[in-house]
Amino acid sequence: MNYASLKTTDIDINNNEKEFIPEYTKEVARETEDLYKKVSKIITRAEWTEFAPYIYEINRLKKEKGAVILAHNYMTAEIFNCVADFSGDSLQLAQEAAKIDSDIIIQAGVHFMAETSKILSPEKTVLIPDMEAGCSLASSITAEDVRLLRKQYPNVPIVTYVNTSAEVKAESDICCTSSNALAVIESFDSDEILMIPDQYLAKNIAKQTNKKIHTYAGSCEVHEQFTPESIKAFRKAWPDAVIIAHPECPPEVVEVCDFSGSTKAMSDYVANNKPARVVMITECSMSDNVSVQNPDTEFVRPCNMCPHMKRITLPKILDCLRNMKNEVIVDPAVAKQAKVAIDRMLAVKV
Ligand code: 13P
Ligand code: SF4
Repeated sequence: MNYASLKTTDIDINNNEKEFIPEYTKEVARETEDLYKKVSKIITRAEWTEFAPYIYEINRLKKEKGAVILAHNYMTAEIFNCVADFSGDSLQLAQEAAKIDSDIIIQAGVHFMAETSKILSPEKTVLIPDMEAGCSLASSITAEDVRLLRKQYPNVPIVTYVNTSAEVKAESDICCTSSNALAVIESFDSDEILMIPDQYLAKNIAKQTNKKIHTYAGSCEVHEQFTPESIKAFRKAWPDAVIIAHPECPPEVVEVCDFSGSTKAMSDYVANNKPARVVMITECSMSDNVSVQNPDTEFVRPCNMCPHMKRITLPKILDCLRNMKNEVIVDPAVAKQAKVAIDRMLAVKV
C-alpha cells in the first residue's frame, strides 16, 4: 500500500498545507503491540510500522473528541480491527447509528452509509474520510428515475436497497439491506413488489418468495464480475472448500455456491459452521477480517476489490478527525422523507 501520497495535512499560519505525519516511536510501538498481535497473521511488521502511528493517533484523538468510528465489513484489516468502535454490515451500521451516544461519527464506509447515519442521527456530526467513496448501485438511480418508476408501476410498493442516495430513499416506500430484504418484501400484503436498484439482489430474493418482483438495471461493479465458471473452477481446485457468496452476485453464481447472505451472514456462517476451508465470493477485505476472527479456517482468497471502500485509509481517517473535515450534510426535507423509509425497514423483524 502506498501511503506516501496519503499523508494527513494541516494548515499553517501562512495558510500553506503542511503534512502531519505521525511517527513510529517507542511509545507507539509499546501501546499498539496488543493490537498488532490481533492482526499479525495478515499484516507484516514492516506494514505495521506505517500503520501503528496512525492507529495510535486516531485512537487517542477519538477519546479526546468523543468520536466513534463505524466501520463496514469491507474496511481493510488495520481499520476494521484496530480503530473501529463498531463494525458490521449495512443493517448493523444503520441500527448502531440510530442509537449512538457520541456527538461525532466517523463513517468508515461509503457515502450512502454516512448519509444513512446522518439521517438517523441528524443532531450528530457525521464525517466521511473521503467524500468520493461512492457505490455503483447508488449512482445507478436518481430520485427522478424512482418517480418515473412509480408512474410505470402504480400501486406497487417500492422497496429500495440502502445502497442509494438519500433522495432516492425519500421517494421510496421502504428500504432494505441484503440482511433483511426477504423479510421486508414479505412484510407487504401486495403480490407485486418493485425492488430497486440491484437487479441481482432482486432476482436472488425473487427465488425465495411467491411475490412477483420487478426490478431495475443497477448492479454492484464488484459482485457482478464473478461468474459461474469461476466458481466451478474454485470447486475443482479446492473440492473440500465451502463456497459462500454475497447476494449482489448474479443468481447463476449464487446457485452454484453453498450459501449466500449479507456480509454479516457470511461472517456468521464461518463462525457457526467452522468450515476447514472457505471461499468468500465478495470484496477482498472480508476474508482478511473473517480470518482474524476464525484462525482455524483456511481462506481461499479469490476476490474483487471495491475501489470506493478502498478510498478509506488510516491517513484519511486521521485527517478527517483532526481537522473535522468532510462533514456529510443531508437536506432536512429529504432526510425527513428518507427517514420514514429507513425507520419502516428498521421496524421489520428479521
Ligand atoms: P452488506 O449490507 O451485506 O454489508 O452489503 C453492503 C455492500 O455494499 C455490499 O457490497
Ligand atoms: Fe457498492 Fe458494490 Fe462497493 Fe458495495 S461493493 S459499496 S455495492 S460498489
